[in-house]
Amino acid sequence: MTKSSLLILPGDGIGPEVMTEVRKVVTWFEEKKGLEFDINEDLVGGIAYDAYGTPLHDDTMAKAQEVDAVLLGAVGGPKYDTLDFNLKPERGLLRLRKEMDLFANLRPAQCFNALADFSSLKKDVVSGLDIMIVRESTSGVYFGEPRGIFEEGNERVGINTQRYTESEIDRVARSAFELARHRDNKLCSMEKANVMESGVLWREVVQKVHDQDYPDVELSHMYADAGAMQLCRWPKQFDVIVTDNLFGDLLSDAAAMLTGSLGMLPSATLGPVMANGRPKAMYEPVHGSAPDIAGQGKANPIACILSFAMALRYSFDCASEADLLEAAIETVLASGARTPDLMGPDGGNSITTSAMGDAIIMALDK
Ligand code: IPM
Ligand code: MG
Repeated sequence: MTKSSLLILPGDGIGPEVMTEVRKVVTWFEEKKGLEFDINEDLVGGIAYDAYGTPLHDDTMAKAQEVDAVLLGAVGGPKYDTLDFNLKPERGLLRLRKEMDLFANLRPAQCFNALADFSSLKKDVVSGLDIMIVRESTSGVYFGEPRGIFEEGNERVGINTQRYTESEIDRVARSAFELARHRDNKLCSMEKANVMESGVLWREVVQKVHDQDYPDVELSHMYADAGAMQLCRWPKQFDVIVTDNLFGDLLSDAAAMLTGSLGMLPSATLGPVMANGRPKAMYEPVHGSAPDIAGQGKANPIACILSFAMALRYSFDCASEADLLEAAIETVLASGARTPDLMGPDGGNSITTSAMGDAIIMALDK
């Protein structure tokens, strides 16, 4: 069996802490299930800036291009807020997405049974929730030119450009239709075609891809603001949602919180399929670096561990191992183990980041 190569980039804030727990899980799969990984660890974000003066060293970028999967923790922190845009920790992450051409960011929002009470919404609105947001992640206003802060008359003007080509919309739409076919066969596309030309084009292209190649998938279109409202009102009406980079950033945070905790949600960002038949891929939790709780053992490692489960599924052809890991996490949650982010309003006893990792290992052992 050839070894799968994995580049681990813990990053900043709680990134290294949660990644330590992922390493335990990876080791468990090596020792107990015979999986073999060739693991390399490197820096990204603020920690890379501190070491090299750039949030992503070219050598790290080159490594990322070669591995089967990248697993990233989180980037950013207040210390770097005043840096020039190109040096900010977030640029490291965006460069990975852009240069690896990882255009389809899959963000599941799944409500774990044991946590249905933790949502800010009523239990019957969220229990059993299982939706997938596909966020375009290499284009749109995140990357469009012109961008910058310019002098105009006697004041400055800040400019960003929302820009989508037909082929960029086409490819992410296809990823979303494919996913829908493996789920409940329903896709809702969100944009603001009522105010943005890029939204008009988005809607047209998604409809065309549907009519030509995916007529069997039930397609609907929604303005993104109405979509945000519907996500809070009755999220179970959705199966797969496809949307652009910025709307996807907002909608996926909102969808994540429906499930009770941002600390629970993984993501996969997939690119073109390579010669070995696997997509280029990076896996990361949806949550950020949470500098306010970094280093205190308070972070929830589950989102990052579930991101590794997605890697097992999408990059390593290990679907049954992914199922096993997800089931172990369900078991641990059902047993009442909680990191502080999962504590209800009346408090209770919480466990540390590493105790949560250990509990997951114990559940895997059973
Ligand atoms: C995310 C994050 C990033 C984004 C930041 C850290 C650049 O919010 O992955 O959702 O805006 O895409
Ligand atoms: Mg975000």
